[in-house]
Amino acid sequence: MDIRTICVHGCDKRYDNTGAVAVPIFASATFSHPGVGKSTGFDYSRTLNPTREHLEYTMAALEGGVYSIAFSSGMAAVTALMELFSPGDHVVAPDDLYGGTYRLFEHISHKNGVNFTYVNTLEGIEKAIRPETKAIFIETPTNPMMQVIDIEAVSRIARARKLLLVVDNTFLTPYYQRPLKLGADIVLHSGTKYLGGHNDTLAGILVTSNPNLYERLIFIAKTIGACLSPFDSFLIIRGIKTLAVRMDRMQESALTIAKWLTEHSAVDKVYYIGLPDHPGYEISRRQSSGFGGMISFSLKDPEIAVKTLERVKIIKYAESLGGTESLITYPMLQTHADMPEEERNARGINAGLLRLSVGVEAVDDLIADLKKAMG
Ligand SMILES: Cc1ncc(COP(=O)(O)O)c(C=O)c1O
Repeated sequence: MDIRTICVHGCDKRYDNTGAVAVPIFASATFSHPGVGKSTGFDYSRTLNPTREHLEYTMAALEGGVYSIAFSSGMAAVTALMELFSPGDHVVAPDDLYGGTYRLFEHISHKNGVNFTYVNTLEGIEKAIRPETKAIFIETPTNPMMQVIDIEAVSRIARARKLLLVVDNTFLTPYYQRPLKLGADIVLHSGTKYLGGHNDTLAGILVTSNPNLYERLIFIAKTIGACLSPFDSFLIIRGIKTLAVRMDRMQESALTIAKWLTEHSAVDKVYYIGLPDHPGYEISRRQSSGFGGMISFSLKDPEIAVKTLERVKIIKYAESLGGTESLITYPMLQTHADMPEEERNARGINAGLLRLSVGVEAVDDLIADLKKAMG
């Protein structure tokens, strides 16, 4: 079945016989037992809830996986994932990484005895692997520098060294990129972004095809309890229905805006993976079916960056991405505020860098808004 149809209808499983077209919100913390030692299949919502389960099956289908677990936020999903590791374990990650993930790795996982090496090339990944390395964690394209990582090439390294490969697929979603098919073991999402798609709720998702990994992860999930509520599960299911239409529209607008930015005299550099001169363009064409709606760009004068943030009207100066409303972010002060300045600058996350999440507004209005704000 075409992924656009799966987006609309979700998984086949239905939980009532009313014919309800929308998936019901099962707002029940607990479920009564038909007899001693008997269960309807649902006992307690931290472990399993029908609305959440529908979302989980849908996400597994969309990613071409078998199992999925929905969490209360993307960071809750990363936190659960990190519980797979023990003190002394080592993980290799890209040096351009969502700031919240970096903060979790450095301030929580590291305190719990897990060590990290950050690299930015395939050779770097190979070199960083040690006897105690257990996993490679990547996001592609990276947030916010939009670097493209060759998932298949990394998966070959992971297989050869018997390491787990985790891919954060938040930016492209399964509509444009399916990391499990490219050799990943686990796919991770901030469902808050494109999946939910309306800037109205938080969610996190893990997907895998490996039954052992799933057993370990579902045990962690039900034990730590950061599960997605039935209401939020409903919102994500509803968001996913229009994922394909939104992604295509955002991508079309993003390409137009990226081209316009490259010609603007105040702009130093545009980082959009759909521009043919982007260094990751060819890899993207090979491993993804689209380029998405995220653009980072640096302004020659950091003062213009600040003015842009303060003057935009239609585009909102706000954290997050992937929703119907266009959002502009100042990575230096927002997503990457907890990264030491030196490391931030080394990655290009400086005072002139802005990140734009292109929404579904009319592209001419977005360009007019940017044009006025950038002066
Ligand atoms: C790539 C990426 N991964 C994970 C997260 C964390 O997700 P959440 O904000 O839903 O906790 C984010 C949030 O911005 C993100 O951009």
